[in-house]
Amino acid sequence: MERILVTGALGQIGSELVAELRNSYGSENVVASDIRVPRAEFLRTDGPFEYVDCTNQDQIQEAVVRHRIDTIYHLAALLSAVAEEKPQQAWEINMGGLFHVLEVARKLGCSVFTPSSIGAFGSETPKDLTPQDTLQRPSTMYGVTKVAGELLCDYYYERFGVDTRGVRFPGIISHVAQPGGGTTDYAVEIFYQALRYEHFTCFLTAETRLDMMYMPDAIRAAVKVMEAEPGRLVHRNAFNVTAMNFTPEELADAIRAHIPGFVIEYDPDPVRQKIADSWPNSLDDSSARSEWDWQPQYDLESMVADMIDNLRRKLKNE
Ligand code: SER
Repeated sequence: MERILVTGALGQIGSELVAELRNSYGSENVVASDIRVPRAEFLRTDGPFEYVDCTNQDQIQEAVVRHRIDTIYHLAALLSAVAEEKPQQAWEINMGGLFHVLEVARKLGCSVFTPSSIGAFGSETPKDLTPQDTLQRPSTMYGVTKVAGELLCDYYYERFGVDTRGVRFPGIISHVAQPGGGTTDYAVEIFYQALRYEHFTCFLTAETRLDMMYMPDAIRAAVKVMEAEPGRLVHRNAFNVTAMNFTPEELADAIRAHIPGFVIEYDPDPVRQKIADSWPNSLDDSSARSEWDWQPQYDLESMVADMIDNLRRKLKNE
């Protein structure tokens, strides 16, 4: 990894991954790209930015050639709930975008990181300690694009020798950029509402258990899997990774340790509840641990303490 292109760089993961990559690899060597327009400060103070629509292969190719890119972090995608609302668009962006990125990588010799998700599993998948290699029959368009994406990345490695790698992310929690249109978004929104109003109405039921991860661990996973020694990799794409799992009720209890008056209510949204019910309770990430030494640093308590600390400062300055 010497010259890196990040697609979807203004999204939840991209906003923090770009900064981390620029610290490690040098600002000029990390090109951020998105279809959104960045804040003016971003353009002035950070490294290069390109407008890249991933459904347009020529635009990806031009950016890769112009910046002599050798590694693509392909993050541009629609999340689960919005993909259910717009399934045709989700197919075009999630599958079409990945296909174009892989084609450019094949032609120009780039490595590719692609995030898969807990959404790649379905209701027939074993729910507890979901194995790395198991039944994957998701019932959502998001899940369909994630499973197909995992297979397509494996295919490009086997058939064309493209160095494709990836992880199955759980819900990701951060205090920088908010997610949008995901089923696990409640676990971010809850902090803003708790700090502003000491009250949150949750769109999932109290007992919905899902895997989650704090952003610093997610960034570490994305970098570590790309830096992994290829000879150690038995799997390549779609490594299960997790850091914690909890229910909304357990998260609310952990928040209450910092904000004693915090009240949570439940008003489940049928679409997102159905999606969440089809996902695992907890992943087995032992393949990632043994093949590239994956090790999360944040658990529920340390994540909640850090989120509250950072968001208190952020909201005070708003
Ligand atoms: N966080 C994602 C979502 O909820 C899952 O990968 O859509």
